[in-house]
Amino acid sequence: MEIKTVGVIGCGLMGSGIAEVCARAGYDTLVREVDEELLATGMQRVRSSMGTAVERGKLSADDRDAALGRLRGTVRLEEMADRDLVIEAVIENLAEKRQVFAALDAICPPHAILASNTSSIPIIEMASATGRPDRVLGVHFMNPVPVIRLIELVRAITTSEQTLATARAFGESLGKRVIVAQDRAGFIVNMLLVPYLLEAIRMYENGFASREDIDLAMTLGTNHPMGPLTLLDYVGVDTTYYIANILFDEFRQPHYAPPPLLKQMVTAGFHGRKTGRGFYNYAAGERPPQ
Ligand code: CAA
Repeated sequence: MEIKTVGVIGCGLMGSGIAEVCARAGYDTLVREVDEELLATGMQRVRSSMGTAVERGKLSADDRDAALGRLRGTVRLEEMADRDLVIEAVIENLAEKRQVFAALDAICPPHAILASNTSSIPIIEMASATGRPDRVLGVHFMNPVPVIRLIELVRAITTSEQTLATARAFGESLGKRVIVAQDRAGFIVNMLLVPYLLEAIRMYENGFASREDIDLAMTLGTNHPMGPLTLLDYVGVDTTYYIANILFDEFRQPHYAPPPLLKQMVTAGFHGRKTGRGFYNYAAGERPPQ
């Protein structure tokens, strides 16, 4: 099956990045947010990211204008009725995701593939909310979506070969390398990444080392582009907390359990760069060590 029209549900950090790469790759793209204000913020994020791509010589001004011409926003889920592929990128909450999948199942044409950008929730949980579990899979993008060259496909036990093959061709058409994981909480990336991030929090929480030294250990010591505490602030302290809880619920192993400091930071609203404060206080001018 060939994908021509793409829908994206949610125009937050991930949804706007996904909409951007789809429009840039030539797809007629429709992105949906719950209200006009959030939609305007998300569309502005797309324009600004494409502007950066032009400044950095990654995209010509003509191609940017053509991509923006292929991208449209809406607040009406019903407009997904003509989409071949819809990618859900709403908050990491199972009840919300199941509701979106049930609604999309009723709205979208029978041939449409419904995908989730969940970073950790098993895909069968969403597939089972629809009447088309063979056409549901995980299509997991990484942040920042236009820059990171990987897509992790997740195959539920119900996902058909044809759905997987179509999603693989679609992912490659976006210029990404595609990997395939079985349907277990965390898949490949977060199964490896999240215990590492949690261990960094435990080190800091226990006073074992300063936040700067923990970060420098991994940037200078192992050439990671960001240290773990900086990366936590980047992907979201709250998002990491949700993922850790999902992994712990699934596997019941202590290294997935969110450390108390992580929970406290979420409660305090220290969600990382997006709220101005996480492990570093960006609002007060603090920056991770270079
Ligand atoms: N469109 C296209 N290209 C862009 C762009 C855009 N909007 N913005 C930047 N770029 C390009 C730049 O031109 C540059 O390209 P070159 O290397 O060819 O020059 C490259 O992207 C890097 O950009 P910058 O120089 O602005 O940024 P940087 O060097 O400071 O790197 C970073 C920033 C890419 C975020 C880097 O620090 C990094 O990779 N950090 C780690 C991010 C990471 O691990 N992400 C995954 C998180 S896990 C996840 O997302 C999954 C989950 O479920 C939680």
